[in-house]
Amino acid sequence: MKLKSRHLLGLEGMTKEELRLILDTAVSFREILDRPIKKVPPLQGKTVVNLFFESSTRTRISFELAERRLSADVVSFSTAASSVSKGETLKDTARNIEAMKIDMVVIRHAAPGSAHFLSRVVDANVINAGDGGHEHPTQGLLDMYTLREKFGSLEGLRVCIVGDITHSRVARSNIYGLTTMGAKVSVCGPETLIPREIERLGVKVYHHLEDVIPEVDVLNVLRIQLERQKSGLFPSLREYHRFFGVTKEKVSRAPKPITIMHPGPINRDVELSADLADGEHSVILQQVTNGVAVRMAVLYLLGT
Ligand code: CP
Repeated sequence: MKLKSRHLLGLEGMTKEELRLILDTAVSFREILDRPIKKVPPLQGKTVVNLFFESSTRTRISFELAERRLSADVVSFSTAASSVSKGETLKDTARNIEAMKIDMVVIRHAAPGSAHFLSRVVDANVINAGDGGHEHPTQGLLDMYTLREKFGSLEGLRVCIVGDITHSRVARSNIYGLTTMGAKVSVCGPETLIPREIERLGVKVYHHLEDVIPEVDVLNVLRIQLERQKSGLFPSLREYHRFFGVTKEKVSRAPKPITIMHPGPINRDVELSADLADGEHSVILQQVTNGVAVRMAVLYLLGT
């Protein structure tokens, strides 16, 4: 079986079989990461360019490691050190890079739809590493991988995504992927941070953590985007923490332990208490490790 598209632009519209193919392929690559020699040859002779127009720690390092472990030649691009700062358009940047005979492009950009746009103007395979508030498909996949690894199956798993759903590409990719795989997905946050009619995506909406905690197996806690604090979408960080901060005291009211996820970077003791982030039910660092395996799987499936 192969993926239908030669690009990975989002999880919306992907079938259960395609998602399962990526997750199953990632299992073999995850095993490689525990070997003393972590390099395998599938992308030997291929060139991958990482175009990061927005800041990133985890995704950028994870993609670079995944590419190098598959033996690809890797070039990474930072906006500040490029001709983008001289006014060059995304289309011109991409077409000039492609003229150097590259095979795959990984792009992170603040504009929703930028990865789709790129896929229409270059011949290389395009992988979306986060396009504005739209999608972050490899984050969705690594979250699904981590949950499947822990629980064995995603079918019927009760996952609540907590925080700023409106501006979150992580939330969107998780919702598309998890609902397709049969999980029961909910979202929880202030009314100002939850899009209207999100129920159409097959999710339940909560506005009080105390209502959701007894009902779920997993809380996937999103970063509160401090840069949006000025726009009045929530009164203050203190208030946000009081009502939507996930703390040990709040989750202790659950009938059984809740698995804690976070895509990073964490604002400790704002959206998630430090003791829970580092606690025994946190899978946050497993998410990061699994991210490399999932990205290896995506690069392998698209590039070979
Ligand atoms: N999870 C995530 O996308 O983190 P970065 O912004 O550090 O890549």
